Amino acid sequence: MSSPTLARLKPVVGELLGEAAFAYLARANELARQGRDVINFGIGQPDLPTPEHIREAAKRALDQGFTGYTETAGIPELREAIAEYLNSRYGSDVRPDEVIVTTGAKTAIFVAIAAYLGPGDEIIVPEPSYPAYPEVAKLLGARPVYVPLRWEGETRGFSLDVEALERALSPRTKMIVINNPHNPSGTVFPPEQLDEIVELARRRGVLLLVDEIYDNFVYREARFRSLLSYGDWRDVVIYVNGFSKTFSMTGWRLGYLVVRREVAEKLKRLAVNVYSCATSFAQKAAVEALRGDWGPVRRMVALFEQRRDVMVEELRRVPGFEVARPLGAFYAFPRVRRLLEWLGTDVEALVDKLLYAKAVAVLPGTAFPDKAGRDYVRLSFAVSADRIREGVRRIREFVEEALAARSRR
Ligand SMILES: Cc1ncc(COP(=O)(O)O)c(C=O)c1O
Repeated sequence: MSSPTLARLKPVVGELLGEAAFAYLARANELARQGRDVINFGIGQPDLPTPEHIREAAKRALDQGFTGYTETAGIPELREAIAEYLNSRYGSDVRPDEVIVTTGAKTAIFVAIAAYLGPGDEIIVPEPSYPAYPEVAKLLGARPVYVPLRWEGETRGFSLDVEALERALSPRTKMIVINNPHNPSGTVFPPEQLDEIVELARRRGVLLLVDEIYDNFVYREARFRSLLSYGDWRDVVIYVNGFSKTFSMTGWRLGYLVVRREVAEKLKRLAVNVYSCATSFAQKAAVEALRGDWGPVRRMVALFEQRRDVMVEELRRVPGFEVARPLGAFYAFPRVRRLLEWLGTDVEALVDKLLYAKAVAVLPGTAFPDKAGRDYVRLSFAVSADRIREGVRRIREFVEEALAARSRR
């Protein structure tokens, strides 16, 4: 007999994709406990600690007893600091009362989607995608409509087909997700393409759910433009960003939404019913993050750029790997289709074998819905250059051994 607590669950809850990064982390940790020297390219967080001055600010806030609830939208100084930060960087005109602080960017995504999508509505999701957007949409009875990014080869990387986006629109479409810089592909969409997307959104009256959580991880060759820099962002954009990646604060759970004031007033009602407010002393630390010394962030991004170059050079020596140089975020997303064909396998089996044979954890592209990722793997370069060299050396060894075994058969 099935228990009522189980039987009465909405089926969709059981159908949601988990976040594969967390599942693979658990498997990699299990191997490490067995004594294996695991190299983990699966992780989606900087490997450096939160800078000291930020940690100190949290400690001060705790010692001063700043431990109660705060305003749902966040403490005024933090909302001011966020607005100042965005405006100084992107030439926008965001006001503090247009900012809502959330418990991580993920909660900002949840609030945004819950506020706009209901049963039967559609959200356009360029794929492969960070899983939260389609999964939250499904939970709410809405339907993700996927538009694959186009692979243009090693030199040009991925591009977004704006005409395909337009073809995917229907009368039920409420939103298009624009995650830029893009996880998992490391793409930074060029400004001309953003112009076209904004023009499409205006013309067709759909909203852009914009996630710029990697906006500080933008490398030399990239041309990044924030979607807040468009004069009419208030009519088009629901904006998400956060502290997790930029300040190495993933465990602090701090993100934010930026929306026009009238919308913010309404979203606060949703937010208060979900999480009341973000952690009080973490918000004080976030003010210090934005207004204090940016040296540690700049050094981290410079370091990640060097690691990126190491990773791309090394991966390009692996047979069957096609590697575009990521321009943003901290992920390489090589295409391994030829290798899969040579070996007659699929990407999930490949990733499993690699983990157990060589103790190297990478994520299968299928961890990023919907199907376009099946020809790819994702490797995070939030790992030291030496470990990148050693990890990719093991990958090459694994591939060469697998190909040799195959040719003997
Ligand atoms: C594109 C994207 N958006 C949002 C998040 C969630 O960030 P947070 O830790 O602030 O919830 C992540 C984390 O991996 C991400 O990659």
